[in-house]
Amino acid sequence: MTLGTDPVVLDTTGESSPYPYFEYMRRTDPVWHGTYMDQSQLPEELRPNDEWVLFGYDGVFQGFRDDKTFTSAAYDKTIGLVMGHTILAMGGKEHHDHRSLVAKAFRATALERWEPSVIAPVCNELIDEIKYQGHADLVKALTFEFPTRIISVLLGLPPEDLDMFRRLSLDLISIPTDIVAGLNAANELHGYFLNQVEQRRRKATDDIIGDLVAAEIDGEKLTDEAIIAFLRLLLPAGLETTYRSSGNLLYLLLTHPDQLAMVDQDRSLIPSAIEEGLRVETPLTMVMRTTTKEVEIGGKTIPAEAQVDMCMGSANRDESRWPDSNKFDIRRPRQAHIAFAGGIHMCLGMHLARLETQVMLNSLLDRVTDLAFVPDDGSGDDARIVGLTFRSPNKLPVTFTPAA
Ligand code: HEM
Repeated sequence: MTLGTDPVVLDTTGESSPYPYFEYMRRTDPVWHGTYMDQSQLPEELRPNDEWVLFGYDGVFQGFRDDKTFTSAAYDKTIGLVMGHTILAMGGKEHHDHRSLVAKAFRATALERWEPSVIAPVCNELIDEIKYQGHADLVKALTFEFPTRIISVLLGLPPEDLDMFRRLSLDLISIPTDIVAGLNAANELHGYFLNQVEQRRRKATDDIIGDLVAAEIDGEKLTDEAIIAFLRLLLPAGLETTYRSSGNLLYLLLTHPDQLAMVDQDRSLIPSAIEEGLRVETPLTMVMRTTTKEVEIGGKTIPAEAQVDMCMGSANRDESRWPDSNKFDIRRPRQAHIAFAGGIHMCLGMHLARLETQVMLNSLLDRVTDLAFVPDDGSGDDARIVGLTFRSPNKLPVTFTPAA
């Protein structure tokens, strides 16, 4: 299906890049009364009456900051069906209290302890497995693997459960395309996590589930249901986004070999490369909000009860904020992007995502040299970044030599 006004159309299958369409909309109608999402699969009761899309940075930023007008409560009716009432759907005091309880485990300082003990060993081991092969698909061998392995250790899950945990995570994430598998996985994960929580109520552990069980605010502890809802949210929130963003960064560096060489020679450039990668190829391009009252934005009036799509992918290429905004350039002056959203729901796992990606890239560059992209691997399906809402490379075929 295609959408839009000639000559710029949007391929809603995600096979072609949505960025020309986003640019066109930013320039012509940045607060658009319409939607580019295919809602035909949604049950009638979930279809919004009135839909809008914000394409410009200022509009998206304003929406995230004003969480009273742009609420995320509708998540209860969508992902809430498989995850329960999560922090994402909460607002006000409930969100504040809940987030305070879980935030401690995800602070940058709290994560430092995991870098040498968990994150680096997982990345090193995965790269050592392919180091002498001379070629690999980095999506299969690395980006798809490392976030799951890391989160399962951080949560404190037994290593023998990794395969089952991975299968259930994938099934849960597949809910939009396979609802039965998604609901079954949600049930199984409920039982599995409940068991993990009960074990920790009997005996404290030094891991994220242990931290959640012990967390207290004003003498109140998190209930089992709240912990399980949070753990189930971590799977799509933490695994899918990180595997996609790290794949996007590798793709961008491999297709800009001069910048890859710069990063290889000066590793202090890695944080800038990560931020520029998140800006240029935002892994999650859009999230939804619902208006609680009439609101003026960009000179237009959005009524109450409207669904508003916040197009972060487009906002991150807003030319009024980033000159030559379609260009990937790790040397450009740093300017905050909005890939992690903003306001009260700003990504809780952003420090972990950045740290994991930094360690993964360092580990790869330490272990292999002459890293080169082979976009055409002879299969007839070239390697490229695909997707509309979730974007990442379909594959990353590369050649390399082992470092001495
Ligand atoms: C590059 C990787 C990541 C990206 C691009 C990303 C993006 C986002 C975005 C856009 C939101 C806001 C969603 C909304 O408001 O509708 C969000 C929220 C959240 N993210 Fe991430 N995320 C990433 C990695 C992670 C990781 C590694 C974790 C944890 C393991 C995580 C946990 C969460 C949680 C718990 C929330 C909900 C926060 C709240 O509602 O207060 N994310 N993320």
